[in-house]
Amino acid sequence: MQVIIRDTKEAAIHLTAAVLAAQLRTKPNSVLGLATGRTMEGLYARLVAMHQDEGLDFSLAVTFNLDEYVGLPAAHKNSYRYYMNHHLFNKVNIDVRNTHLPNGMAADPEAEGARYDGLIADVGGIDLQLLSIGESGHIGFNEPLSAMFSRTRVKALTPKTVEQNAPLFDAPEEMPRFAITMGVGTILEATRCIMLVTGANKADIIARAVEGPVTSMISASALQLHRSCTVITDAAAAEKLEQQEYYRWIFDHDPQWDAFR
Ligand code: GLP
Repeated sequence: MQVIIRDTKEAAIHLTAAVLAAQLRTKPNSVLGLATGRTMEGLYARLVAMHQDEGLDFSLAVTFNLDEYVGLPAAHKNSYRYYMNHHLFNKVNIDVRNTHLPNGMAADPEAEGARYDGLIADVGGIDLQLLSIGESGHIGFNEPLSAMFSRTRVKALTPKTVEQNAPLFDAPEEMPRFAITMGVGTILEATRCIMLVTGANKADIIARAVEGPVTSMISASALQLHRSCTVITDAAAAEKLEQQEYYRWIFDHDPQWDAFR
């Protein structure tokens, strides 16, 4: 795992967008794993701007989102399908037929999980998986005790996640208590993972996930086992990391980052 610290949220977003754009330029038909949440809104706005100003091309990209709420139809304002259409898909030249999210309305949600993992396998797996972290330590909706080898399946949401996400609903009490999420095992199979983490409210959990022990109590800690995972943070989110100085040195000196400085 690598940690890259940028001073501001904007700089963290710009770097993450630049890594994603480089992936698309190198392999225009990349399979991208996408995430939702407040953190990603700024990233998608940046990618839309890069599409408009620099011609960043999504025409051959294939996408798989991490998760969807159980019981919300695609047209529901708080579904993740709606979020993705609104923040990214409707604003770039992606072929919407190449965009995938789990179907939260599936009659058999467990079968839907297997179908989703099958679709990912059919396209040869995910090249680059974008992630953020929830305050419960989740990636996707892999709440505490999610098995390290878990596959896409239904997961009950913790009170902390409900507290974090319910304010995004017009009627907070309507937030579903279940979601279909890629499993930790599914996520770990991506060729590369990029986790974007911003804001002081994430400082505690990201320090535990990155520098603490690997534990299913904090699903994001499983990324320590991934062969190519980069965590990009702003200074506020990095506040509680013990090795900040080392991480900053890496970004300034590792030739891998030459093109991004
Ligand atoms: C949701 C998503 C997660 C995401 C989290 C972060 O819970 N299921 O994949 O990491 O939001 O949310 P935010 O960026 O709003 O803090």
